[in-house]
Amino acid sequence: MKSSWQSPSNIALVKYWGKHGRQLPRNPSISFTLSQARTETHVVANARERGENVALSFVFEGQPNAAFEKKLIKLLSGVLEELPFMRDFHLSISSSNSFPHSAGIASSASSMSALALCLCDIEAQLMGNAAEGEAFLQKASNISRLLSGSACRSVYPWMGEWGVCGTMEGSSDLHATPFVPHDIFKSFHDDILIISASEKSVSSTAGHGLMEGNPYAEARYQQANRHLDGLLVALKEGDLETFGRITEDEALTLHALMMASSPSYILMEAGSLEAIQRVRKFRQETGLPLYFTLDAGPNLHLLYPDSIAAEVAAFIETDLRVLCEKGRVIKDFVGLGAGKIEE
Ligand code: PMV
Repeated sequence: MKSSWQSPSNIALVKYWGKHGRQLPRNPSISFTLSQARTETHVVANARERGENVALSFVFEGQPNAAFEKKLIKLLSGVLEELPFMRDFHLSISSSNSFPHSAGIASSASSMSALALCLCDIEAQLMGNAAEGEAFLQKASNISRLLSGSACRSVYPWMGEWGVCGTMEGSSDLHATPFVPHDIFKSFHDDILIISASEKSVSSTAGHGLMEGNPYAEARYQQANRHLDGLLVALKEGDLETFGRITEDEALTLHALMMASSPSYILMEAGSLEAIQRVRKFRQETGLPLYFTLDAGPNLHLLYPDSIAAEVAAFIETDLRVLCEKGRVIKDFVGLGAGKIEE
């Protein structure tokens, strides 16, 4: 049995920050599915004598990688109940990323969703089912969530919403739900200003943990629900102004929460703040709809419609590239989600 899938990274607009139970979100979130930052994963499953544990070998970008292998055994042991076939097979997993390692781009969303899709595909083959359709993607999204929360949003084209939300039919804490935005967002750009490519000073697991006991936690979860309701309308209508206001508010709130945690973390760098000021000034002076978001790190994601790509490219050269480590800017776009690689 074998299976190969590619799956992209995603960038959240309403942020998932805070979890409970078995990787369940404290609030609903939504993200753009990206297209350039992808992981390609191949899994070959060979029958073995039934075992209680996961058995696998892992090769990353052509090299056996013992550290990742250990991590994967632990992660997949956590989903044996959902994928019981793993007791009867040895898995040879190999994967590679389309983006450079340690470029400040998180790879957990793309890598964990690609792996989940391969495993669900092999399970489908064993059951004589086709690896397609709503139920298949939902299971793959559920497994992705268990492996790395926000990865569950990567499997769908354009946008994925994750977490129960009153205004979104079919939404669930267990898996993401596809969301189809107004056409203007389907060709949106996400240029990532690599302010610093250093390792994150706080892992997302630790970050989520810090929300327990954060004095603003309850107000934050309510705000995220309000933001999502407002954003869903703006995304459907193509209302760029509301989109930008909510998206930037979310990014800054995520960082404010980390600053207000105990211990406190400042995840932005001086260059991140300077880039934010320059983006806001550019918007004020030109009236063009250029907005930003941030992950739990210093790198700024510039979000804008394709119609202003030339103006933004010029602005990056004159004002923003100087703020980036080694002048690095990675260009990405909203994309079509994961796909099976036919051998
Ligand atoms: O999926 P995790 O546990 O790495 O958490 C992701 C958290 C953020 O990237 C900051 C926000 C999000 O919703 O993707």
